[in-house]
Amino acid sequence: MGRGRTATLADRLAVVRGRVLPRHVALIMDGNGRWAQARGLPRMEGHRQGVKAAEHLVRFVGEEHLCPHLSLFAFSTENWNRPPDEVAFLFALLERFIREREEEFVERGVCLRVLGAVEALPPPLRRAIAEVEERTQDGDALHLAVGINFGGRWSILQGARRAVSLAREGKLDQLDEEAFARLLPTADLPEPDLIVRTGEERRISNFYLWEAAYAELYFTATLWPDFDEEAFLVALEDFQGRRRRFGGVAA
Ligand code: IPE
Ligand code: IPE
Ligand code: MG
Repeated sequence: MGRGRTATLADRLAVVRGRVLPRHVALIMDGNGRWAQARGLPRMEGHRQGVKAAEHLVRFVGEEHLCPHLSLFAFSTENWNRPPDEVAFLFALLERFIREREEEFVERGVCLRVLGAVEALPPPLRRAIAEVEERTQDGDALHLAVGINFGGRWSILQGARRAVSLAREGKLDQLDEEAFARLLPTADLPEPDLIVRTGEERRISNFYLWEAAYAELYFTATLWPDFDEEAFLVALEDFQGRRRRFGGVAA
């Protein structure tokens, strides 16, 4: 990176920091396969580069304190529809990502939490998740939520199941939106202010549903492995130009 570009990024970063930053940014990391295909490489290479992009971004967001909560959608409940070797490769990559970043997360105060139906994941991945979650639980610099076998509908259903079982035990006196939100797997997270989807498609693909009620949506054609620090800054700049009304009238 040349000096000029570095200065520009730093200047833009300073401007972004002087404005209202999101508390929670959620990223739908899409386009790994197309990134690889465009280079005549196997899809798996796209996933490998995708993990690198995620590593860089987590470091950048943490170091620059751009938002205290970051979510990454890594594997959806529908991604089981892919060929078994791709699914296995993705789980192996995720396990390696979690293990290899463990020390860095501890040192930098990154608290990792995996959201999703982890009981269906291969045991080595489950062990890595449990160990790294436990070791990083006191991290306070960045709260990183990674969706693995996560689905927005699964998440709402978890809440509904908990509500039913509490009601059966006679422990649920009222069920309003706030009480229900506290039963969701995402209860500890603020709602996302900004949801970014890379890779051209303009859909949620069963990521956060309940939580996305008032999220700003940002779609970019940039494929996930190319989504770098500058691309993230562009998304933040766009977010800072939005007028959030939450059903009210403009201030
Ligand atoms: C995102 O990239 C990674 C996952 C969903 C696991 P894709 O693998 O969906 O890439 P495209 O959409 O086929 O390009
Ligand atoms: C969304 O990407 C899921 C993740 C990024 C984990 P997909 O590639 O699975 O989404 P669709 O199939 O294009 O909707
Ligand atoms: Mg895709």
